[in-house]
Amino acid sequence: MGEKMSGDSNSILIVDDEAVIRDLMTDILTNEGYEVEAARNGKDALNRLQKPNDFVLLFTDIMMPEMDGIQLIREARQVTPNVIPIVMTGYATLETARAAVKEGAYDYVLKPFSLSEIKLAVNNALERYRLVSDNARLRDLTELFKISETIATIHNEGKLLDFVMRAALDRVGADRGSLMLLSEDGSELEMASSRGLPEDLNQKQVPLESSISGWVAMHSLPLCIQNIEDSPELALLSNKLDDKSFMSVPLERNIIMETQQGSFGIEQPKRQRVLAVINVNEKKGGGPFTEGDLKILSIVANHAAIALENVRLIDALQSAHISTLQSMALALEAKDNYTHGHSERVRNYAVMAAQKLGLPSKDLETIRLGAMLHDVGKIGVSDAVLNKVEKLEDEEWEQIKAHPVIGYDVLVPVGFLTEDHLALVRSHHERLDGSGYPDGLVAEEQDMRVRILAVADTYDAMSSDRAYRPGLSQKIILEELQYCRNNGKLDPIVVDLFIQLIESGEIEFFATNEP
Ligand SMILES: [Fe+2]
Repeated sequence: MGEKMSGDSNSILIVDDEAVIRDLMTDILTNEGYEVEAARNGKDALNRLQKPNDFVLLFTDIMMPEMDGIQLIREARQVTPNVIPIVMTGYATLETARAAVKEGAYDYVLKPFSLSEIKLAVNNALERYRLVSDNARLRDLTELFKISETIATIHNEGKLLDFVMRAALDRVGADRGSLMLLSEDGSELEMASSRGLPEDLNQKQVPLESSISGWVAMHSLPLCIQNIEDSPELALLSNKLDDKSFMSVPLERNIIMETQQGSFGIEQPKRQRVLAVINVNEKKGGGPFTEGDLKILSIVANHAAIALENVRLIDALQSAHISTLQSMALALEAKDNYTHGHSERVRNYAVMAAQKLGLPSKDLETIRLGAMLHDVGKIGVSDAVLNKVEKLEDEEWEQIKAHPVIGYDVLVPVGFLTEDHLALVRSHHERLDGSGYPDGLVAEEQDMRVRILAVADTYDAMSSDRAYRPGLSQKIILEELQYCRNNGKLDPIVVDLFIQLIESGEIEFFATNEP
């Protein structure tokens, strides 16, 4: 829970309907060096507790008109769970004292009281407050540390945002919230993760000018609203949720403006760049959010902003790597007059087939990249052999057959390629009966991704022109696929799908269109 962490405070709130008692207590405690505020009734006291405050102790009378001390303690615990209540009672029957303790009173003093009794009660209570707040602080810090550790290990933007949303609600003890990303052009916020929101508010874009999250993003300022009715200008921006108290915090990163030429020695101005806004509503138990809650949410938001930026940088770096590898694959095709567009077509056929066979999206992405790179090993095969029209000599054929392993060796050092990508490159010429190359893998050693790529590659090799022959007719392609299917070379399910796509003419579309 988001407990208040101001362990050094020495503010005391006194509540009594009798002015004499209020004045006496104020004198005693002020003389002892405490900050003292006095309230004349329960309502007045609650108002003071609801405003940002550092109260450590709440001294309250029990018998008061309208709201008695026990009721006040009950409500005060919702608002400031860490404040320590002490009751003052003039007719201390055991029963009222017990009722007060049941509601959370830490101690009681009897009227009329002596100076030393008050001092003792205050000292005891403060000692306890320090223990509670030290423990709470330690617990909060440990939890926050765990959160920041976990945040740093998540490398997927969607998962990261979901985790941050959950952790934030957990830490501040709230049931409902949303995390909204600033759109690229900075004109609106888009819902990225949410919990407990009504359906109609869930999937939407919000313009900056007409929402509280937008206000937070534009002003780059956190908000902790204890009662929205006290802020009419914000209430106008409020959505249909009827929460009175909520928090809204920007996720932002420092960016350093580029220096202008000529600005010698002038410190570069720093500017905050808002990436997202996190909103938290509906505190468990119904009370308002405190400054302590805001502090915790802000810490989570800071860690989240750093992690979000890192994830995006890594993604950008990875895309740059992928583009480089793809350019390499394309440049390679230029070496071989007859394989122009081969990698892209094979990628398109394989991804489409994988989609139709219901493979998970993670596999589709593996196939998309693996297929694009499957022939990069041809970099190690001489142009003369690749473009040879006549029948290949044995030694030349061996050269060709080395390309899957060369491709594998070239790509192993590329950090972000997984074993699954590499398997596609290495094994795309394997056959189910073990007659393929380079490793002679049998059916059980080839997963569905490899099997799909093998069929897609075979199909494109047959349907496009080669140095030694023009593209084959549809009839011959179908016969050849049937042969491979029935003789344990290619996967029957995948071949059947291709046959169906060839016969329906659908496959032609994917020769030039990426699925
Ligand atoms: Fe190949």
